[in-house]
Amino acid sequence: MTKTHTTRSIEPDRQDADPDFERLLSYIESEYGFATTYYATKYLRRRIRSRLSRNHLERDDYESYLSLLKADDGEERTALLDALSVNVTSFYRDPSIWDGLRDVLETAQEDASGGISIWSVPCSDGREPYSLAMLARDTDGVDANRVSIRASDIDEEILSSARSGVYEQRRTADVASELEYLDDHESYVERTTIEGTDAFEVSDEIKRAVEFDRFDLINDRITGSYDLILCRNFFIYLDANYQQIVLEKLYDALRPGGYFVLGKAETMPQDLKEQFEPVYKRSRIYRRS
Ligand SMILES: C[S@@+](CC[C@H](N)C(=O)[O-])C[C@H]1O[C@@H](n2cnc3c(N)ncnc32)[C@H](O)[C@@H]1O
Repeated sequence: MTKTHTTRSIEPDRQDADPDFERLLSYIESEYGFATTYYATKYLRRRIRSRLSRNHLERDDYESYLSLLKADDGEERTALLDALSVNVTSFYRDPSIWDGLRDVLETAQEDASGGISIWSVPCSDGREPYSLAMLARDTDGVDANRVSIRASDIDEEILSSARSGVYEQRRTADVASELEYLDDHESYVERTTIEGTDAFEVSDEIKRAVEFDRFDLINDRITGSYDLILCRNFFIYLDANYQQIVLEKLYDALRPGGYFVLGKAETMPQDLKEQFEPVYKRSRIYRRS
């Protein structure tokens, strides 16, 4: 992970926070480049406590945990950064929104003189952008060859798993039923086994349709002119003050009339309601006005 040049300052709502906890957050921000300032304190506390517990430390012993990180050979750093970027995702997550997305692809195809450019950020292990690539092929009136999909995430490890396009069927991740949103998903994924576990691998055609790169939504410069941006289930972790800043930058990266999608549990800040006009309100699909 690249280092940021931001210096962590204590936010007004965090001034009463535990100084040991603040010192730990400053260290994570300056040494590991994870912009803790932007994340909700409650979220950070919960994720960091999970590491304290795994290291058999008392619930609030942030001081010892900081010493442990300073003496660490890299293993705990990786585990901590892993804990901070929760990668939960699925194919066709929140199935009800995907009918709306199908309409969006059709309309974007009619509007776009060139192809349709899409950015899925953050994309986690790739199931969201691959869902889009399959949806484009499954939608009449959309020329999938003219749809380009960029997919980005901050986490290099999850990106390499995304590029492999292999998903194990587990009790906790029922990939088979996730894929049922599409009647014809077997044209796009193949069944396989990995060390005796059932798994699905997306076809080469679908893998080729998505280009992955590492991108930090907080520290990297957001540019582009996309027809559709999906930024789902990222803002739930972010401090409310920063949600708006990132949303404004994403707004600028949409072409006029371009579409934008939030996660189902996320809401558009009041101040941005004029910029983002709801298209399918319950599905959190908006259009740049
Ligand atoms: C819950 S997943 C969302 C995946 C997908 N959009 C979905 O809704 O299923 C959140 C992702 O945000 C990524 N993430 C966390 N901080 C980030 C940042 N600053 N920039 C880009 N991605 C980030 C994590 O690595 C994680 O994969």
